[in-house]
Amino acid sequence: MSVSAARLPPGPRLPRLVQTAGFVLAGPRFLEACRRRYGNAVTFSTVFDSSFVMVFDPGLVKEVFQGSSAQLHAGEANALLGPVLGERSVLLLDEDEHLRHRRLMLPPFHGRRMQAYEQVIRAATDTEIDSWPVGEQFALLPTMQSLTLRAILRAVFGYATGPAEAELRRRLRAMVEPLARPRRLLLLSAVRSRDRGAVLRFEAQRRAVDEILYAEIARRRGEPDLEQRDDVFSALLLAEDERGDRLTDKEVRDELVTLLLAGHETTATGLAWTFDLLLHNASVLRRTHDAIEAGNDDYLDAVVKEALRIRPVIPGVGRVVSGGDFHFGGYVIPPGVEINPSIRTIHRRTDLYPDPRAFRPERFLGPGAPDTYTWLPFGGGTRRCLGASFALMEMRVVLRRVLERVRLRPADATPEKVQFRAITLAPRRGVRVLQDRPPSAAVAEPVPA
Ligand code: HEM
Repeated sequence: MSVSAARLPPGPRLPRLVQTAGFVLAGPRFLEACRRRYGNAVTFSTVFDSSFVMVFDPGLVKEVFQGSSAQLHAGEANALLGPVLGERSVLLLDEDEHLRHRRLMLPPFHGRRMQAYEQVIRAATDTEIDSWPVGEQFALLPTMQSLTLRAILRAVFGYATGPAEAELRRRLRAMVEPLARPRRLLLLSAVRSRDRGAVLRFEAQRRAVDEILYAEIARRRGEPDLEQRDDVFSALLLAEDERGDRLTDKEVRDELVTLLLAGHETTATGLAWTFDLLLHNASVLRRTHDAIEAGNDDYLDAVVKEALRIRPVIPGVGRVVSGGDFHFGGYVIPPGVEINPSIRTIHRRTDLYPDPRAFRPERFLGPGAPDTYTWLPFGGGTRRCLGASFALMEMRVVLRRVLERVRLRPADATPEKVQFRAITLAPRRGVRVLQDRPPSAAVAEPVPA
C-alpha cells in the first residue's frame, strides 16, 4: 500500500527541536501532557526520528503485542545494540530467525532449573553483603551490578568462583561499563560515531571478551558430559531446532553476550530502585519484614512488581512496521514508522493505578491485580523478556536475603531522581545507604560450583 494511505495518530505540531527538548528535559511530564491533549496514540517528531508513534493505552498495546511478527519488527527497533550484541542476537533478529533462537533459548529459563538458580543467587548475595561497610555510606547500585553479574556468570554461563570467573567478570565489566553512560551507544553506532577513539577502545574490549567465550565454546563442545550441566550456556550448545540443527559458535557467543547485557544491568537497576522505594516507605518495609518472617513470598513478589511499576527500568519498547501498512486503533501506520508502547506512562496512569506515585504492593495482591497490558516492565507478545521469571525470582531472593541479614537505612532523606542512561532509567546517585549493624551471625554459605 502507498504511504499516502497512512492515517497516523495526531501529535504536537511543534518543531522537531522543541519536541526533542520536551523528551530530554521533561520526559514523562511531556508525554503525559501530550497524552491528555491528543489521546492514547500520539505521533511525535524529534531530531532522532522524524515520525514515530507512542502508545499509552493497554487496549492499543494489546493490538501491538498481538500484531504479526512479520509486520512488526522489534529486531529492527533494537538495531542500535548491534555493535555490542552481534547480529545473531535474539534481540536483533526478526520473524522466523527470531522465533528459532527464542525456542532454542527458552527451555533453560523455565521450571526446575529456576530453583537451582535460587541457591546460586542467595550465595552471590551473601558474598556481596559481606563486602559492605558498617556505619559508612555506600551506593547500592554498583554492588547490585556486581551481584547480578556474579549471578549471571554462575547460572547462565556456568562458571564456578575462581580465577577464570574473575577474569571473565573483569573483561565483561570493562566492556559494559562505558555503555551505561548516556549517549554512549550512539557513539558506538558505526554510522553516527565521530569518537573514533571510543569505538576502537570498545572493539578491543569486545575482542578480549570474545577471546574467552570462543575458547570456552570450543572447550565445552568437546566435553562428554555437557548434558549433566544445568547452566544456560551448556543448554544453548546442546539445543536443536526441528531440523536437528544447532546454534553456531557465533550464535552462541551473540546470545551469551545478549543474556548478559539484557539481564545484568536491568536487574541490578530494578533491585536498587526496590531498595530505594522500600527504605523510604517505613510501613511497606515493616510489612515486608513481617512477610519474610511468615515465609510469605507473595508479598515479596508484590513488592518487586510494584517497584518495577513505579520505576520501570526500561521506559518503553519498539516495533518497526515492515512490509505493508499496520492497522491499529483506527489508524494506518506505514512501513518504516516505529511504534513505541510507553511502559513508563501507562504505569503512571491515574485511572489504571489510583494515586500512582504511592508505593503500594497490595495492588498486586488479590483479584484486581493489573493484567499483562497494564503492567508491562518486561514488554510483551512474542518479544516479551526472555528472562522475566529469572529476574523476578532473582529480585525476590536478593530482597529476602538482604533484609534477613542486615539493617539498611537511606543516606538521603528523599528518594532518588531518575536518570536516563543509554537504555535504562537508573537512580541518579546510585541509592546511597548506611548499614546500621554488623552482618548477623548468619554467615555466607559456600557458593555451589
Ligand atoms: C528487571 C530486569 C529486567 C527487565 C526490566 C527487562 C526488560 C526487558 C524488556 C522491556 C525487553 C523487551 C521486550 C519487548 O520488546 O517487548 C526485554 C527483552 C529481553 N530480555 Fe529482559 N529484562 C530484565 C531481565 C532480563 C534477564 C535477567 C534476562 C536473561 C538472563 C533477560 C533477557 C532478555 C532477552 C534475551 C530479551 C529479548 C527477547 C526477544 O527479543 O525475544 N532480561 N527485557
